[in-house]
Amino acid sequence: MCGIVGFAGHEPCMDIIVDGLRRLEYRGYDSAGIAVDEGGTLRTARSEGKLDNLVKKLRLEPFYGTFGVGHTRWATHGRPTEDNAHPHRSGSVAVVHNGIIENHVELKAELRQKGYVFQSETDTEVIAHLVADFRAAGHDLAHAVFHAMSRLHGAYAIVVIDATEPGTLVGARLASPLVVGLGQGENFLASDVSAILARTRDIHFLEEGQLAIVKRDGVELRDATTFESLPLRPVHVTWTPAMAEKGGYKHFMLKEIHEQPRAVADTLRGRVSLERAEVVLPEVPLTREDLATASQIYLVACGTSWHAGLVGRYHFEDLAGVAVHVELASELRYRNAPIDDRTIVIAISQSGETADTLAAIREAKKKGAKVLSICNVIGSSIPRESVGTLYTHAGPEIGVASTKAFTTQLVALHLLAIHFGRLLGRLDEATARTELEALLHAPSLLEAALTLPGHDEPYIAIARRWHEAHSMLFLGRGNLYPIALEGALKLKEISYIHAEGQAAGEMKHGPIALIDERVPTVILNPRDAHFLKTRSNLAEVRARSGPVILVASADDPDAASHADHVLPIPAGIPSRLLPLVTSLPMQLLAYHMADFKGTDVDQPRNLAKSVTVE
Ligand code: AGP
Repeated sequence: MCGIVGFAGHEPCMDIIVDGLRRLEYRGYDSAGIAVDEGGTLRTARSEGKLDNLVKKLRLEPFYGTFGVGHTRWATHGRPTEDNAHPHRSGSVAVVHNGIIENHVELKAELRQKGYVFQSETDTEVIAHLVADFRAAGHDLAHAVFHAMSRLHGAYAIVVIDATEPGTLVGARLASPLVVGLGQGENFLASDVSAILARTRDIHFLEEGQLAIVKRDGVELRDATTFESLPLRPVHVTWTPAMAEKGGYKHFMLKEIHEQPRAVADTLRGRVSLERAEVVLPEVPLTREDLATASQIYLVACGTSWHAGLVGRYHFEDLAGVAVHVELASELRYRNAPIDDRTIVIAISQSGETADTLAAIREAKKKGAKVLSICNVIGSSIPRESVGTLYTHAGPEIGVASTKAFTTQLVALHLLAIHFGRLLGRLDEATARTELEALLHAPSLLEAALTLPGHDEPYIAIARRWHEAHSMLFLGRGNLYPIALEGALKLKEISYIHAEGQAAGEMKHGPIALIDERVPTVILNPRDAHFLKTRSNLAEVRARSGPVILVASADDPDAASHADHVLPIPAGIPSRLLPLVTSLPMQLLAYHMADFKGTDVDQPRNLAKSVTVE
């Protein structure tokens, strides 16, 4: 997501900061900026688009100051424009920020009343004015940030500088990463070690609620709730810069798999009101009237996003009592579907640039449909062509094989279905509250699934045994049928093994002919309403000597005796959250098979991250 690099030292900092930002480019961003103190005056430069646009500006008017801060922004609140790029200023104060300030609307109103003028559409600008306000009340910069933090709700990593207190950077974090780099006569703050590894490997990883006061000759650490002094605990990092970009993971895909608890928490953040048992979605401009008079609802997408739509259909039917058509964009656009001005189309896309999805929504708009979208990339084409967008906030997804983008889409669709159910009066308050409470546990369930003891072992054993398989089957029933499709897609994308996803009940209508001792079948069979039916399908596979890889609940005592390999998920997962949690073994299985085969996991052959051709 966004990147931060702050520097306090003896050398001119412009190039050092730009070099650090360059090392964060892999995270994806849409604008960049820098603020540098020039002998008591703060100079800033910002640009829309790539870092090179900023560099061109800086070449014309270079900065020579020795402390400053830079940022690459991945838009969340406000379009990716120069005005919205960081740093944001309030007089002599400049702030860069990663994350989301949830209470920015009320803070903005309060600060406006005090006379502060807002120049951007961002949530970040409130931090700059809030710090300036505490500075005006006589606090030094560290105390001003400390007091400002007590007013901020949400998730953030911030770095603040003030030209009237030269040489000091103040950094703080809550839920978004920030590290302190300890150099010789120079010190750093950065959102990611990779930004500063070229200059120091001695790193203090800021913990939740810690505040760092960084000067060129030293760093002080404070507790952000009490302002008590805390000891620095630097570690010497031995990662190479490339490893650091991947957070120590071997591939971006693996990193992104492990980011899912955080990504899903970001999709949910600020969108659930348990008190009112409602979903808070001001970005979805649909009234009860719109829904009640809609003739039909279409979910339109490609690839993995289409699989998310297939899971979404279960949510919409169960929670809102509405029927939805789930359509492949590449097919819908060529059909004469009866779309009219009472049709609601919801496009689902990670990139927001998929040509087929874009063409399908344009077609639907021509016929008068109201188009909404679920998307990860802010300001991309599909949101721009929609009347409202529910952003998934998964953060940049670099691996071509979609992982966290998929699970965050599932959560967005789940939220939307509850929202529709409430708007239509088909979901009562008590049921909605229970549903929302369960959904709020999704991040911890994913975390639990990723940290089961001995977690990687069965995947490695399967990869060793089956990496030369020519074909694999994936079976799932009910809301796990789309996960079987997704498991097969993941495997073929990155391991190049042919794979087919099937509805478990369809196996006997044809695919069963494929089964023999060389074709492993992955069966999604955790404890749910279909448990026994699917277990019978498993028996049918085994009766034909088919090897079985079983995704089972951890408390299933018979799992091991029914399968060649067991991929456990935590016990007791509510049925509606099973698609989310069982996505993890699908992703990990594909990952380990590909890694064992030595394919290019992050950039598999013939595939592109964003498919902008029809
Ligand atoms: C998923 O792993 C794929 N790489 C692919 O199927 C992808 O989901 C599809 O191209 C749609 O992309 P979008 O979500 O960006 O529209």
